[in-house]
Amino acid sequence: MQRVVPFADWAIHAPYVIAINRLKAERNAVILGHNYMTPEIYHGVADFVGDSLQLAMKAAEIEADVIVQCGVHFMAETSKIMNPAKVVLMPDPEAGCSLAASITAEGVAEMRKRFPGAPVVSYVNTTAEVKAASDVCCTSANAVQIVNAMDGDTVIMTPDKFLAQNVAALSDKRVVWWDGTCMVHERYRAEDLRAYRDGNPGVAIIAHPECPPDVVAEADFTGSTKAIIDWVHAHRPARAMLVTECSMAANIADELPEVDFARPCNLCPHMKRITLEKVLYALHSMTGEVRIAPEIAARARLAVQRMIDLSRAAG
Ligand code: 13P
Ligand code: SF4
Repeated sequence: MQRVVPFADWAIHAPYVIAINRLKAERNAVILGHNYMTPEIYHGVADFVGDSLQLAMKAAEIEADVIVQCGVHFMAETSKIMNPAKVVLMPDPEAGCSLAASITAEGVAEMRKRFPGAPVVSYVNTTAEVKAASDVCCTSANAVQIVNAMDGDTVIMTPDKFLAQNVAALSDKRVVWWDGTCMVHERYRAEDLRAYRDGNPGVAIIAHPECPPDVVAEADFTGSTKAIIDWVHAHRPARAMLVTECSMAANIADELPEVDFARPCNLCPHMKRITLEKVLYALHSMTGEVRIAPEIAARARLAVQRMIDLSRAAG
């Protein structure tokens, strides 16, 4: 913690970190943290950190009574879907996602009408209702494998059009998409990356697949947040630019002192709603519980479980 949180901030965070970790034991709670959480959450209170796929798989295995989801709302819903007997708490239920907000179950039905018989692969960045209306889910870590595993020539991907376009470039399937975007990754521009590379020869540019395809084309590597972390660990470039959310570099900079991280990054305002204060309040008051209608949860679970099974089968 001392190495990732500036000394002046530590005095503010320390009492919260201590209180949360104490309360976590009292409540028999586990904190799942997404890779975009701030360092004081990522390193200070999370019991398990990872990308969306890792968090979904971990949620299914948790034996503690309470799961506190440090991430956005669809991630907490996924945990509840995968482990319905547990109490899942969202420290800020308003922490949404521009992708999850872009489509409803009616949107999925509309796509099915437009492309009859085509399977629907929905990104985990969707509500439980959308998952329930889909054939299978995917994450940025397994989207190509999942699309390739579908029957037929045409596959519908919702809601991220850029993820779908990036998958289409790597798949023989005809991929059709919903018109959603991530408000964080859509802002990157290929010309900015080119200009950055011109000014910083040798920089490793690593992008998330929610970025537009011309941005991905400029990158040396593209992958999920976990895959990005793994790539930087494996390659240890002298200079790296992570074309994704800002906390990623902040969380791993200490483990990789030889890597100079360029910091032109974009903040996700939804992820940043999660703070230590809100985590403490949720655990203390046991508020912010995620509830999903059982029939929706049961159908959504089929789509998420199918993704996990296909992902495991593909290795
Ligand atoms: P990952 O599954 O790669 O962690 O991505 C989740 C997300 O919301 C990225 O914007
Ligand atoms: Fe959603 Fe984009 Fe934020 Fe990820 S970074 S939670 S996709 S808005």
